[in-house]
Amino acid sequence: MTRAFIPHSRPLLGPEEAQAAAAVVRSGMLAQGPEVEALEREAARVLGTRHCVALAHGTAALHLGLVALGAGPGRTVLLPSYGCTSLLNAVLQSGAQPLLVDCVPGLPDMDLQDAQAKVRPDTAVALVPHLFGRPLEVRPLEERVAVLTDGTHAPGATVGRSPAARQGRACAFSFYATKMLAAGEGGLLATSRADVARLARNLRSYDQRPDWRLRFNYKMTEVSAALLRIQFRRLGSFLEERQALARRYRAELGDLLELPPEVPGQVHYRFLARVPSRRLPGLLRALREKGVGAARPVFRPLHRYLGIPARDLPHAEEAWRRTLSLPLYPGLSSQEADHVIQAVREELS
Ligand SMILES: Cc1ncc(COP(=O)(O)O)c(C=O)c1O
Repeated sequence: MTRAFIPHSRPLLGPEEAQAAAAVVRSGMLAQGPEVEALEREAARVLGTRHCVALAHGTAALHLGLVALGAGPGRTVLLPSYGCTSLLNAVLQSGAQPLLVDCVPGLPDMDLQDAQAKVRPDTAVALVPHLFGRPLEVRPLEERVAVLTDGTHAPGATVGRSPAARQGRACAFSFYATKMLAAGEGGLLATSRADVARLARNLRSYDQRPDWRLRFNYKMTEVSAALLRIQFRRLGSFLEERQALARRYRAELGDLLELPPEVPGQVHYRFLARVPSRRLPGLLRALREKGVGAARPVFRPLHRYLGIPARDLPHAEEAWRRTLSLPLYPGLSSQEADHVIQAVREELS
């Protein structure tokens, strides 16, 4: 019997989500409506912020969050080089110029001291993702500059006793198919600032407005909202399953792989390990041949896209060259986890 390929990411949706989507179809109301409104209320409760504004995708949440915090032409925005391309796209969409920040040496985390050192008089916002579920404490940076966080990888994570989504003036989320909570496409801006929520609501929809300004079609559909209401209810069990898998990988692979130390309050979006850079391409190939969808968790660091020399962001470059991510998600069966572990052991022993 041939074994099915174990993908790097796989959303977990079941009969409840199917029923919720079918109910929307039967209702005949497809565009932003009561499901979106209910999601906004429920997500705010889970994430611990006063307001949530549902949007079409995560890039929309980043874009509107940046605009609400003052990013625009003539301003700069700090963001990590080791991160998702959508962060760069959102900065450029706002009209601001990107300023790339390095990683903490030896870790995948954005170096907030480097960020502080790079704040300029024209810097409007620092964009700080809680990458891979590792929450960052942004308060010291906030004394210098407005902070927009990105909680896509970290719903349920905490900083001290406080939800990570409360870090910064606003926190953006993506619900793309591969994320912690998945709806195919979807985004959300969580904030306790009424002015930020008001502006995001104002700009997400352009139709039937008494005045004109540049607004966007950034509304979430009712089907996405219905799926996400269920996904948010399942967040606790998703996080438990992820944690159990991470513990198992740690226990059974910790002797072979260099693992980043865990941080308090983290959740487990990806299982990361550092391997020697010359071994990573071959290891990724060999694991895929064995049916394991291992990957670099960041496709390409932003300095490479922008033609900035690696020596300017040495730790981001090193993180990219050395970091491996193994399949880790709720619904990954115990047999699949066995296979991942066995494949890694065969390649590295
Ligand atoms: C941390 C983070 N933020 C935002 C995004 C972009 O979200 P979307 O694809 O929904 O626009 C991604 C997607 O890869 C991401 O990983």
